Amino acid sequence: MKLAIAGKGGAGKTTIAGTLARQLARDGYEVLALDNDLNPNLSLTVGIPAASLDDVSTLSPDVVHIVDGRYELTQTLDEIREAHAMTAPDGVTLLVAAEPKTANTGCLGHMHMAMRNVVAAAPDGPDYICILDTEASTEHLKVGTAQHVDALFAVVEPYFKSLESGRRILALARDLGIDRTALLANKVRDGEIEKVQRFAEQHGLELAGAVPYDECFFHAERAAAAPIDFAPDSEAVVAIGDLARSLLRG
Ligand SMILES: Nc1ncnc2c1ncn2[C@@H]1O[C@H](COP(=O)(O)OP(=O)(O)OP(=O)(O)O)[C@@H](O)[C@H]1O
Ligand SMILES: [Mg+2]
Repeated sequence: MKLAIAGKGGAGKTTIAGTLARQLARDGYEVLALDNDLNPNLSLTVGIPAASLDDVSTLSPDVVHIVDGRYELTQTLDEIREAHAMTAPDGVTLLVAAEPKTANTGCLGHMHMAMRNVVAAAPDGPDYICILDTEASTEHLKVGTAQHVDALFAVVEPYFKSLESGRRILALARDLGIDRTALLANKVRDGEIEKVQRFAEQHGLELAGAVPYDECFFHAERAAAAPIDFAPDSEAVVAIGDLARSLLRG
């Protein structure tokens, strides 16, 4: 299964994408985690130690070229993995699209196309999971980076702007032709899930699950550690584990 995690800035996309990746790898899946945020930070969340972050490579621009007006990969996925992937704990394979190091040097649209093609090339079988972590802007939907995923989840916090942002994201994802599109509630405190449920019903959207507000993420970040390593038994990490299994059941 191939899935994308989208949502408003700071909603918890990377926290959920990275923790899902680790949990699914523990459950026995071969997991490819893709960081398509051009200010990337999925690496730490999947458990690459802070001291090794400088060793995380990014895709090189020549992994894609244009053939007959369409972007295609210049290498096989195995070659891309060999050259650019980092292996995170539990065997998660991590690929990071880009991290600009120079200012005023042009756009990175071709790296969106590289990731789109990497998702397309990722294995499809029942033992494989591909998780695409996206950036807050909806540009990735405009250019179709997540076109080849089976499902896109919009992470929303239980307040109006975040919910509205999720609604707009899911409309674009449906327009892209993605089969399953759903909200994922995050940072949910007592009594707040009803608000998200009402919003989902009102707009005819699926609500695929909910993760509670949990201080463990704050403490994990202060310790520069992956939540699943820092607080494996915390309520929210356990909830993301449950979510991992329920998302795959559909
Ligand atoms: N369930 C939660 N409870 C409490 N804090 C959370 C929860 N989920 C995420 N956070 C915190 O919210 C902040 C933003 O999380 P994260 O970086 O995952 O969001 P994001 O959507 O990926 O952000 P960006 O738009 O910058 O990519 C982090 O400090 C994270 O620790
Ligand atoms: Mg993020």
